[in-house]
Amino acid sequence: MDGPDERAGTDDMNARDDEADAAGREGEPDEAGDGADAAESDDEDDADAAESDDEPELPPAVDLPSSLALPFLRNGDLEIVGRLVQASNTTLLVTITGDVPGRGMITAGAVYKPIRGERPLWDFPEATLAHREVAAHAVSEATGWQIVPPTVFREAGPLGPGMLQLWVATRDDVDILALLQSSDPRLRRIALFDAVVNNADRKGGHLLVRPDGIIQGVDHGVTFNVDPKLRTILWNWRGTLIAPRELQVLALLRPKLAAGGPLAATLAEHLDGAEIEVARARLDELLGSRTFPHPHPDWPAVPWPWY
Ligand SMILES: Nc1ncnc2c1ncn2[C@@H]1O[C@H](COP(=O)(O)OP(=O)(O)O)[C@@H](O)[C@H]1O
Ligand SMILES: [Mg+2]
Repeated sequence: MDGPDERAGTDDMNARDDEADAAGREGEPDEAGDGADAAESDDEDDADAAESDDEPELPPAVDLPSSLALPFLRNGDLEIVGRLVQASNTTLLVTITGDVPGRGMITAGAVYKPIRGERPLWDFPEATLAHREVAAHAVSEATGWQIVPPTVFREAGPLGPGMLQLWVATRDDVDILALLQSSDPRLRRIALFDAVVNNADRKGGHLLVRPDGIIQGVDHGVTFNVDPKLRTILWNWRGTLIAPRELQVLALLRPKLAAGGPLAATLAEHLDGAEIEVARARLDELLGSRTFPHPHPDWPAVPWPWY
């Protein structure tokens, strides 16, 4: 077994520049015209949009309950409008247009992460990150905590199969560091959620404070590893008691995650059996100890950079 590595899970040690750059990588000149990979796709317009160097205009954020958002994301027409340039993988901004019951035809922003844009990581099986994001959303839904914005897996995206997540409106006047230092109680659920899904990359930029005050989390590609990899900025409550209401939610999660349970069935579409089994064990550990976890001694517990 490899030892822990600062870069594991968030960076890659053997990045291959071929497929990883499905839509061109920001900051690296594309000498051979090799946004190439993308140009090989049928849709040149999509490739052009994806290669733009400018921060794209943010797509429209439409607040939809997941019952409406999930079919909309699965079936709506997808158009690439830009790329998140600071992102480590190919993370594209798209619009989705479709008919939403009770709302008529709408266009909403979304994030599209094609599997072919994933940078290989030494400690995660290749081409699985988009699936992990969808699995994390399934756990979020099963808790009712609404931590992860609606997320689906789309087999036929313009750059191939990948995950699609509804774009969320965020406040830009929130000091995330102050939020962390104040142990804002809204973050407790996210800390518990991360413990269940074994999130290896909970940094400040992966917390979104919505205008209505709800805090959500994004970027769950490095979750559900079978080894303990919890790496987070949310250690404020380590070793302290989980509140009864929180514990109740975790207890309700247990039968859903049991073999044959509905959550386990959904996860099985995106994770392998061992990964689900170990997720169950992590949940049992939380239910047994009734406390927030401590950092693992053999693993870098805090992401760097933290934001
Ligand atoms: N669904 C979303 N709604 C609003 N903003 C988002 C959403 N997903 C990502 N972002 C923003 O985009 C940034 C990059 O996305 P992220 O998922 O972290 O990409 P990567 O996997 O490439 O790091 C996030 O830090 C966050 O600020
Ligand atoms: Mg990220």
